[in-house]
Amino acid sequence: MKRDLVAIQDLSNAALVGLMDLADTLQRDLRAHARELGGFLMGSLFLEPSTRTRLSFEAAMARLGGRIITSSDPATSSAAKGETLSDTVRIVDSYVDLVVLRHPAAGAARWAARHAGGPVINAGDGAHEHPTQTLCDLYALRRERGKLNDLSVMLYGDLRYGRTTHSLARALVRMGCSIIAVAEDDLGLPDFVVHDLVRQPGCVARHVVVDDMEDVFRRRDVRAVAISSEDTAPAGGETEDDAQPFSLKDRSVDAIYVTRLQAERGAGAPRALPILDHRFLTSQPFKETIVLHPLPRVTEIAAEIDSDPRAAYFRQAALGVPIRMALLMWASGLYDLPLDITPPEEPEPVSGHRCENPSCITRHQGESVPEEVGRMPGDVPRCQWCEEEARPC
Ligand code: NCD
Repeated sequence: MKRDLVAIQDLSNAALVGLMDLADTLQRDLRAHARELGGFLMGSLFLEPSTRTRLSFEAAMARLGGRIITSSDPATSSAAKGETLSDTVRIVDSYVDLVVLRHPAAGAARWAARHAGGPVINAGDGAHEHPTQTLCDLYALRRERGKLNDLSVMLYGDLRYGRTTHSLARALVRMGCSIIAVAEDDLGLPDFVVHDLVRQPGCVARHVVVDDMEDVFRRRDVRAVAISSEDTAPAGGETEDDAQPFSLKDRSVDAIYVTRLQAERGAGAPRALPILDHRFLTSQPFKETIVLHPLPRVTEIAAEIDSDPRAAYFRQAALGVPIRMALLMWASGLYDLPLDITPPEEPEPVSGHRCENPSCITRHQGESVPEEVGRMPGDVPRCQWCEEEARPC
């Protein structure tokens, strides 16, 4: 079976740990592995802006002795002439051994993987998922905190359109961490992520009012959802109407993961998100908190904390190379990871429904992607490409 990575669910917990263990070995001397992928060619197809993801993938391939061809400017690629993604991917796949794709439409990587004989790696598909950023985030967390279970991680910023938090929330909860997702009302974690999290055995989501953080966030309208296993969940109501005051005073947060407002994805009118600064980090729950950010940062983290030892985002970005080296070794078939013993649950196909998400690959211009709608037990019918709720048609 070809080794695609289109969503974080494609890798079991054991596989994630296996990749991080391999990255630890590679990291000891990045120059010592230049023969591992000699003769391999990677195609990086980036139809959206990128600095870190593309360059760290390319650095990773080059460090392993492989070579790269790249298309990074949508305006000069055939997409600008109206070529469909499936045609472009078929061609690039016929030139290379492995394709790394970034695309503005949600579900694009899954669609591309259907048209490629070789592995396809999702380097970000619209506002959907960004699984390789999650590898980097988890790896940074493990190196900074020494473990990946039983951590309390606050996700903060634009959680609606920021794809990195979607993949990260899934991986963290699956690994036994609790998350506190804090965002303004219209920027909270999307339904497709929350539903997926609470389907996990023993996991509950509680909408809570964080009443003692006004000082930190300096505005009233941020809301929090705490998602964790039943026994570590804060006391509180299960619905928004039933929201209970939730105090962070007696808790300590192991990491805060900050994201920028994704203005290019329609995250509403430009606005400044509350800034994470020195004052924030001196409040009780954050005294020992490390700060992560997938970058680029815009204004949401004040430069004054860059020199604070708790600011881990530059160390995190550097880890993008060894963890992607590990991923490339696996995807190229050079390295095996533990297989998941339990196959993932398959959704039951649902007919007569249609995806209405304008940013889904099904609505992508020039492409006729079949509607594929499915339902997991206890959930609504969802588009199998972008995971947004599908409507009867
Ligand atoms: C992120 C992305 O592209 O989703 N960046 C990255 O890959 N490091 C986050 C962002 O752009 O805000």
